Amino acid sequence: MRAVLDALNAFQYGGSLELIMKILFVAAEGLPFSKTGGLADVIEALPKSLAALGHEMAVLLPRYRNTRASAGPVASLTVPMGGGSRFPAIVPGGTLHGVHYYFVDDAEYFDREQLYGEAGKDYPDNAERFAEFSGAAIEFCKHVWMPDVIHCHDWQTALVPALLRTRYAKDDAVRKLPVVFTIHNMGYQGAFPPGAMKKIGLPNSLFGIDGLEFYGQVNFLKGALIFSDYLTTVSPKYAEEIKTEEYGHGLDGVVRNRADRLTGILNGVDYAAWSPERDKIIASLYSAKDLSGKVACKKDLLKVFGLPARSVNKPVIGIVSRFAGQKGFDLIEEIAAELLAEDLAIVALGTGEAKYEELFRKLAKKNPAKFSVKVAYDNILAHKVEAGADIFLMPSRYEPCGLNQIYSLKYGTVPVVRATGGLDDTIEAFDPATGGGTGFKFQAYNSADLIGAIHQALFIFRNEPAVWRGLQRNGMARDFSWQVSAKRYAGLYELAWKT
Ligand code: ADP
Ligand code: GLC
Repeated sequence: MRAVLDALNAFQYGGSLELIMKILFVAAEGLPFSKTGGLADVIEALPKSLAALGHEMAVLLPRYRNTRASAGPVASLTVPMGGGSRFPAIVPGGTLHGVHYYFVDDAEYFDREQLYGEAGKDYPDNAERFAEFSGAAIEFCKHVWMPDVIHCHDWQTALVPALLRTRYAKDDAVRKLPVVFTIHNMGYQGAFPPGAMKKIGLPNSLFGIDGLEFYGQVNFLKGALIFSDYLTTVSPKYAEEIKTEEYGHGLDGVVRNRADRLTGILNGVDYAAWSPERDKIIASLYSAKDLSGKVACKKDLLKVFGLPARSVNKPVIGIVSRFAGQKGFDLIEEIAAELLAEDLAIVALGTGEAKYEELFRKLAKKNPAKFSVKVAYDNILAHKVEAGADIFLMPSRYEPCGLNQIYSLKYGTVPVVRATGGLDDTIEAFDPATGGGTGFKFQAYNSADLIGAIHQALFIFRNEPAVWRGLQRNGMARDFSWQVSAKRYAGLYELAWKT
């Protein structure tokens, strides 16, 4: 198996260009239909890039409240569940950039206010919701669109490989369908009380140490780690990290057992949506050659966040994030007082855990001229922060890939990040001797190192404008478009199909 892994990691482009494959993406969210985080960006951009390489692509998503179908149902499926079957419809979402979209339509499960939960609480029937969705994906293959390879993403789709190799093990139509599974985040596993097995109709034989059982609970993600043909994560560094106790969230042993089938492929970004040269949202366009428009963006940002216009001459630090422990907010809490003693401004945009929303509201109340928070999920504001800030702060405890820091590079907004996962893979540390690098990194997860990195950034910003410009331009010149990574996925699909 070592040879397979080597073959995977050696892929420079990805398989033979002549082989056109039919690939089905199954995911719980994807733009332009639904989004809570970076997963949705990937589910839009990667299939688009694979379609551009010539592959036949379809994406299957749940039909949430605001998901618009392009036509009436094309199929009614029967999905076996514990207490009887469910009968979701499949409705088409049209074809965008060569990618065919379909939705699993079951209003009782998916026509809700949010995707996964409300008021900080998961929906109590998430096990059933996403078991139905995963079962529907297999039935979709049988009745609507048979792919060569299924590519599943995160715990919500983890039952696809588990069901294929158990419930469907004797079904010749699908039992051999290869499954590639991408772990976007090991911190979200879909763990439910043991009663979920019965509710979703999984055989008790699967509830063991070699199956979905994990410390007395049913763990969906574990099912995917065991039953998928190939596993990927969204950066090479994170692929290494999740084999360790520190980053494995308890599943590192299971990951180590599948290490011969695991590889890390860095996420790309969609520069059609995230580039200051063509961004329709921001106050003024700009480029590496002519950065002058960035000042207009900074003024606009301060105005929108209700901060004094005079701060345009000060360093402005931006944050756009889910407010979750993963993102390093406890470190920000520790350094807040020291940071806000500086002559600067901070803008934060995000939603999530109540304690962080509270923290930021409190900081804003105490420092109205320096700190402003928008507790909101707002794509327009996200673009304005990327363009208008000078420094982008992302001190994550762990980060499978991270997209915001890559967007920041393109907008000449210099990232300060912790050297973990994709943050480490995408940001090169500033080297004072050469002026090289694209941002500021700190290693250990502690507040002293974080404030040290921020101070270094502030020092250069204030005292070395030419060096700062160089840093901005270094970042703006980096290319993280999907082309290279899409070819690596294509190579992996080919491997999965052939072996
Ligand atoms: P994660 O998926 O862990 O949340 P990423 O950096 O991969 O982190 O992706 C986050 C995505 O979600 C980015 O596209 C970012 O712009 C967007 N985003 C996060 N929070 C907000 C928000 N409050 N408003 C608008 N967009 C947001
Ligand atoms: C997850 C991760 C993030 C990654 C995104 C897309 O939400 O937290 O780091 O960029 O998925 O792969």
